[in-house]
Amino acid sequence: MSQGSAVRVSVIGCGYLGAVHAAALATLGHEVVGLDVDQDKIALLAQGEAPFFEPGLAESLRTGVQTGKLRFSTDFSAARGCQVHFLAVGTPQLRGSQAADLSFIHAATESLIPYLRPGDVVVGKSTVPVGTARELADKIASAVPGAVLAWNPEFLREGFAVEDTLHPDRIVYGLPADEDEAEAAKAALDQLYAEPLASGCPLIVTDYQTAELVKVAANSFLATKISFINAMAEISEVVGADVTKLADAIGHDQRIGRKFLNAGVGFGGGCLPKDIRAFQARADELGVGRSVGFLNEVDAINLRRRERVVELVLTNLGDYQRKRVAVLGLAFKPESDDVRDSPALDVAVRLHGLGVDVVATDPQAIANARRLHPQLDFAATAEEALSGAEAVVLVTEWQQYQKFDPQLARGLVANPVVIDGRNCLDAASWRAAGWTYFGMGR
Ligand code: UGA
Repeated sequence: MSQGSAVRVSVIGCGYLGAVHAAALATLGHEVVGLDVDQDKIALLAQGEAPFFEPGLAESLRTGVQTGKLRFSTDFSAARGCQVHFLAVGTPQLRGSQAADLSFIHAATESLIPYLRPGDVVVGKSTVPVGTARELADKIASAVPGAVLAWNPEFLREGFAVEDTLHPDRIVYGLPADEDEAEAAKAALDQLYAEPLASGCPLIVTDYQTAELVKVAANSFLATKISFINAMAEISEVVGADVTKLADAIGHDQRIGRKFLNAGVGFGGGCLPKDIRAFQARADELGVGRSVGFLNEVDAINLRRRERVVELVLTNLGDYQRKRVAVLGLAFKPESDDVRDSPALDVAVRLHGLGVDVVATDPQAIANARRLHPQLDFAATAEEALSGAEAVVLVTEWQQYQKFDPQLARGLVANPVVIDGRNCLDAASWRAAGWTYFGMGR
């Protein structure tokens, strides 16, 4: 394989990770086939349509499909003849356990094996407990001698997934211990990522275990940073301090940095919550549970922030039964329709469960939220949700909610109380418009 030329690639799993990765590789000029067992998803993707909301994805899918660089199929035999095969399936939290469910990654590997040839490179992208790559490598090598496995964790953020995939801030290769195999895997990956590497993207070449750990360590650090500032919010609430100012002040220290220091209703999504739990579970298995024991605390602080938002609402409503509350936001963060472990949706569900008359809205996530919680009432717009509300709770910081005119909003509600679960509103202008404003830790 010569540097810079197109590689034939299969990507197994076309969810938030795989679909974006497949589209990005096609954008980089490679010939890509995306594979998934979900027929509906594949049917949409094959027409160049995104099965979920992700800025820029639809355009990149359409271009890929139109140029013929990008194909999708449910027939795994389409992987035959590809030189590189990405494993990009989900590793969600196991039901009734903190650990990760590895059934999809094992199933994906088994579905791929019949179509592998010696010399093919299988590349793991999914987030896995340390030790998984070794197991998969053995499985592959015993079925297809000469096929090798590399581990190449992904660091994309939903909402910026296309951009992050095309312009990653680092690339990590976890390579096999055998030198020839490592060289073959590295050559294939170098060719795939020729463009970002040429533009100076840092490359870290390491072993399987380190590559697997890099991913969970990064997400654990981010989760810890958020829970740290939320712990400061809890203390600020007691002493009357302002956690936003505190974050600004400590964030100016370059060693700390202001990013990921936004206190609020906490983190959610398909990654951070389940990754810290799976890391703790794996560390327990390895006998080093104490080393990451703080992650249990990170999780607990995070979940307490949801309770805090609910408590603020109830305190303000007095007799809260059947009182109408507008919940602004359902997605776990803006620019996404993902409601997996979403703090926003959780707050809406908890309030509803307590007898509050919840009317929830979101620019993108209503369909996903409704599928999981059909008992909730949904409004298509924020204006509709606000109309007649006794309290307003902002739990996903979409731009349009941040820009909402407090005067106009004041005219819609029955009672001007706003709980800013993301500390994203300008408290002074909301107060000036007659609102009782509550932030998180300020
Ligand atoms: C996260 C990581 O940021 C990515 O690097 C990683 O690749 C990805 O998980 C993954 O493992 O696939 P993502 O889940 O898309 O990305 O979302 P983040 O931007 O990390 O936000 C996670 C949650 O933290 C959101 O609910 C967000 O609202 C919350 N958050 C973020 C805060 O509460 N405060 C902050 O200051 C920042």
